[in-house]
Amino acid sequence: MDKDTNLIYRPFSIGSLTVPNRLVRSATFEFAADEGRITQRHLDLWRLMAEGGCGLNITGMMATAAGGKIGPMMVECSYDGYVDDLKKAVEVAQKNHSLLFVQLNHAGYKTSPQDGHDRLGVRAMEVAPDRVYHEATLAEIQRIAEDFGRAAKRCQAAGIDGVQIHAAHGYLINTFLSPYYNHRADSYGGPMENRARLLFEVYEAVRGAVGQGYPVGVKLPISDRVEPSITLEESVYVAQRLEKLGLDMIEISAGLTMDGGDSSFSPAAQEGSEGLFLYGAKAVAEKVKIPTISVGGYRRPEFVEKVLAETPVAAISFCRPMIREPNLANRWKTDRSPATCLSCNLCFRSSEIIACQVDKK
Ligand SMILES: Cc1cc2nc3c(=O)[nH]c(=O)nc-3n(C[C@H](O)[C@H](O)[C@H](O)COP(=O)(O)O)c2cc1C
Repeated sequence: MDKDTNLIYRPFSIGSLTVPNRLVRSATFEFAADEGRITQRHLDLWRLMAEGGCGLNITGMMATAAGGKIGPMMVECSYDGYVDDLKKAVEVAQKNHSLLFVQLNHAGYKTSPQDGHDRLGVRAMEVAPDRVYHEATLAEIQRIAEDFGRAAKRCQAAGIDGVQIHAAHGYLINTFLSPYYNHRADSYGGPMENRARLLFEVYEAVRGAVGQGYPVGVKLPISDRVEPSITLEESVYVAQRLEKLGLDMIEISAGLTMDGGDSSFSPAAQEGSEGLFLYGAKAVAEKVKIPTISVGGYRRPEFVEKVLAETPVAAISFCRPMIREPNLANRWKTDRSPATCLSCNLCFRSSEIIACQVDKK
């Protein structure tokens, strides 16, 4: 391997962590929890992930509180035994010398209508007859931020290498950021500094809980892919503010994945293009010093190398390609043929999540 041209396998830093290469496993929901609890299926998936060779692996989103789940198959960070269960994931990662972050989320309008779900949103809305949400009160907003802090602390206690706050893909924090959903008249609505207030408070609660030096990242949208949308300038502003507050890493995505808007993974959005949101990742990376990671449609190692060579983006992250080929990061060390992922999205069927076998045609 030519070290001078092979940028993929060069280390980079996230805060105090040295990440051994520039390939990141983007958060991939496992559809595997049993009533919110981590299961053997998770551990099997995380083992495959740990063996796969990515510099950093990020778990699927986990709910910071029982009321923030999309359903019983989503892990909640608040159950008794969570820390002990997570320790098993840490063991698997450490055995394979791999780094593991947990992605923390509150699902907002995507919570399922099970007993105990929060039924709160950025504003009052009837999503479906059994999914009626009220505008989150200031006390609820404060509790949400505290829940993120508590969840992050538990991840740290389990020995997880870092956490990522999910502020994208139409979940609660994203709906606050987005002018499409956020019509609030109080200090959480209106200009960007207000719409990002929940994210800033969540970040502060997480940092307050884990202390300085523990890696914290955010998955941030640079567009809602519907109008009115967060603008690129606004996203850059949010990234800069988070960096000032002490954030260690930012991953750029887009799309609310609701109301017919293009998602971060809709097949149509992938046609003929890799690095769907690279323009945004580049714009953010040019304005911050913390590592910026770009996700969305990457399939060819030559293109990944080109992005790493020609832009300030620090690393590239992948989801669907590594559902199909969990060993992709190792494979590319010797076999540079493109990922075989078809971007068909059948991996949303939980049975396809371990090893996608969908035919090429
Ligand atoms: C099955 C599946 C599960 C996903 N789960 C998550 C998740 O838990 N958290 C998240 O931030 N993104 C999630 N995503 C989005 C991916 O992380 C990624 O942003 C998107 O798929 C685009 O990247 P790709 O082209 O490499 O797949 C998921 C995507 C798929 C297909």
